[in-house]
Formats: sequence, structure tokens, C-alpha cells
Amino acid sequence: MSSTPVGIHDISFATTSLVLDLGVIATRMGIDPQKYYSGIGQVEMSVPARDEDIVTLAANAALPIVERHGRDRIRTVIVATETGIDQSKAAAVYVHRLLGLGENCRAVEFKQACYSATAALQFAAAIVQRDPQQQVLVVATDVARYDLQSSGEPTQGAGAAAMLVAADPAIIALEPVTGLYTEDIMDFWRPNHRDTALVDGKTSIRAYLHAIEHAWQDAQRQGAPGFEQIDYFCYHQPFTVMAVKAHRHLVKIAAAQTSSAQVDAVLEPSLIYNRQVGNSYTASMYIALVSLLDNVAQLDGKRIAFLSYGSGCVAEIFTGVVQPGYASHLRTAAHAAALQGRTAIDDADYLARHAQTQPTDAGAHPTPHETTGHFRYAGLSGNKRLYEATPARSDRAS
Ligand code: CAA
Repeated sequence: MSSTPVGIHDISFATTSLVLDLGVIATRMGIDPQKYYSGIGQVEMSVPARDEDIVTLAANAALPIVERHGRDRIRTVIVATETGIDQSKAAAVYVHRLLGLGENCRAVEFKQACYSATAALQFAAAIVQRDPQQQVLVVATDVARYDLQSSGEPTQGAGAAAMLVAADPAIIALEPVTGLYTEDIMDFWRPNHRDTALVDGKTSIRAYLHAIEHAWQDAQRQGAPGFEQIDYFCYHQPFTVMAVKAHRHLVKIAAAQTSSAQVDAVLEPSLIYNRQVGNSYTASMYIALVSLLDNVAQLDGKRIAFLSYGSGCVAEIFTGVVQPGYASHLRTAAHAAALQGRTAIDDADYLARHAQTQPTDAGAHPTPHETTGHFRYAGLSGNKRLYEATPARSDRAS
């Protein structure tokens, strides 16, 4: 096998045009907002506009990448999501068109709850390993939706992270050893007839910790770097305190010597963006990576462990090394603008949006233009989803 380093050559994230402060939900529920702000570690959540969905989020996240690197070497685009918009057609096919990718390209969708983007990344790395001339576009994109008044309501959110996987990567070289764990468990799921997820909250926390423990033990048996050889830890973050709980658990099972100040130092930079975005399911660990890259001044040569968990459940732990000079490839200002540019909505607006369901007849159902992004979901007509570039996209192209 070729020893060409393979990994993340570029990474970018996008979120929605709207945002809700979690204090609004706490006030309606009559509980102390600190339960959300510090108890689960969430301050805000991104809320999709009526013309935003996983496809528009994915295309918005990926557009800066194809504009910087071109489209010629991309022969595979994978969209990882658990917010499926069609039982048959892959969301990747819509994203492929919106991005103007070439026709000689495979486009496919991956699903396994919040884990699927990690499967997509490993699949992409294998393609590039086989032919280092090719690049693979991996986009993780999700909208987390729970019932109103449920324990999960404050852990909603939405976002997408796009990665270009290539040989001789500019940002992170992936290391080959990974730890794996799969178990059939009902901690969180969404049956086909529902547009909100079902969850057994406490079981899901225990399942996450159990799966990470077993994946870590597998990684160690496979020869992965030990705890002391890792500089930063990037966890799936359904809510940011979950990453803290998981890291404390890992410290215990790895019998590591570390202080709570060290736990903070290796975790805190990865929590900053997800506190504001909320849960973005399979995108969340990769938005955590962007947060880490954007918020630590010097990461050259540092090793990051990725601890990926998807309910149901599958976990995978792998590592990567930050490449010298990576900082000049980051998009820190654009990410800050995406977060700061969101419009705050009030509870009545949020409740009206939450109550809205997709039409089920074959009529024409256009959506109003609300998004500030480059692409929009224009509505349904004849049971077909319509997507288009917005004037913001045209301005950019001109
Ligand atoms: N000030 C500060 N902290 C407070 C507080 C206050 N006034 N009131 C309560 N808290 C603390 C509690 O002590 C608790 O802390 P600990 O966990 O350290 O004990 C924390 O806030 C949460 O309080 P509760 O446990 O009472 O909260 P809850 O039962 O209402 O809901 C939850 C918590 C179960 C995580 C819920 O948000 C939920 O169901 N979320 C969705 C499921 C989820 O995210 N699961 C995570 C693993 S599954 C996964 O990772 C896949 C995925 O993406 C879904």
C-alpha cells in the first residue's frame, strides 16, 4: 500500500440564518436558564429558515472549498446525514448540482445517526489512498429536531461541515489505526413516520460512554497512540457537557494523570462553536474540529483524537496530526461571520416554525425567500424538491 499521507485538505462549516437563545425555551418551560447554559453547556441553537435544509446547508459549507480548490479532481461527493429528505435519492445528488461538480463523479448518502460522517471520511481516505490524484468531498449536514417540551428540545440545532479529503493534506493527516464498536441499542432513533427524533436521554448518555470506552479499548489493542501521546480531544457533542462527561470517563478508563485545568485546556476550544450552533448530529464533531482549529493559536504537529458516536449505536475513535502551515488555510473570519450573522427569533416565531410540516400532496408549495445563504430550498412541486442559487450566490459568481 502507498504511504502517501491522506487527510483533511480543507474544512469549512455553515449554519442557518436564524438563532434562538435557549433562555427563551427555559422561560417558557419555567426552569432556570442556567440548567441549559451551564448544566448541559448550550447557549443558543441554530434554527433553519423556511428555505433552508440539509441540502442548502451542505452546499453552503462546501462552496468555499470548491471555489478555492476547483472541481476537476473531485470524483466522489458523500453527504452524511440522518435528516433524510428522500427515501431513495441521495441528498448528495442535489449538492453535486448546486456546486457545479462534473458529471464523472459518484454521489452518495451515508447514514448511521451522528456517526455517518466518520464512516464517510474513512471511505474517502481509502479512495484517495488508492488513487492520490483524486479528491473526495465529504459533507456532514443535519437538522436536530425533538418534540416541544421534551428533554431533548434544548439540544436541537443545525449545521454542516464540509471537508476536502486529499493526498498530502494541508490541514490534518489521518493516522491509520482506528478503534471500533457497534451494538444494537435503542437509545435514540427516528422512525420513518416521524420528523422528530425519539430518545431515552439517560440511556443515550450511558450508551455513548459505553461505546466510547469499548472503541478506545479496541483502538489501544490495534496499536493506536495512548492517552499521553494525544494533545487535543474532539468528541461528538450532542450538548457540550457531554464531551466533558465523556472525557472524564476516558481519563478514568485510560488511568491517565490529568488535572481539571488540563481537561479544560484540551476540550474547551472544541466546544465554542457547538455551544452556539446546538446539536448538528453527524456534523457536530467536525464543527468541534473547526472550533478547535479556529480557537487555538498554534497547533502545528499536534495530535488530535476524534471520538465519534452515533446512537443505535456505532462508535469510532481515530487520530490525526495537524500539518505545518495549516493556519493559513483556515476560514476563521467566515465562520465567525456565519455565527454572528444569524438573526435572533422569539419564542412565537420559533414555535410557528417548529409546528410547520412538509406538504404531502402533489401541488405547488413555494417557500418564501428567507435565507441569507447562497442556495435555497424553493419548495415542493409535483412531489419534487426544488433547489436554486440565491442572488447572494450570483453576486459571488460575478
Ligand atoms: N443550574 C446548573 N445546572 C443545572 C441546573 C441549574 N439550575 N439544573 C440542572 N442542572 C444540571 C443537572 O444537574 C445535570 O447535570 P449532570 O448531568 O452533571 O447531572 C444537567 O444540568 C442536566 O440536567 P438533567 O439531567 O436533569 O436534564 P434532563 O434530564 O432534562 O435532560 C438530557 C438532559 C437527557 C441530555 C436531554 O437534554 C436529552 O434528552 N437530550 C437529547 C439526547 C442526547 O443528547 N443524548 C446524548 C447522547 S446520544 C448522542 O450523542 C446522539 C445524539 O446526538 C442525540
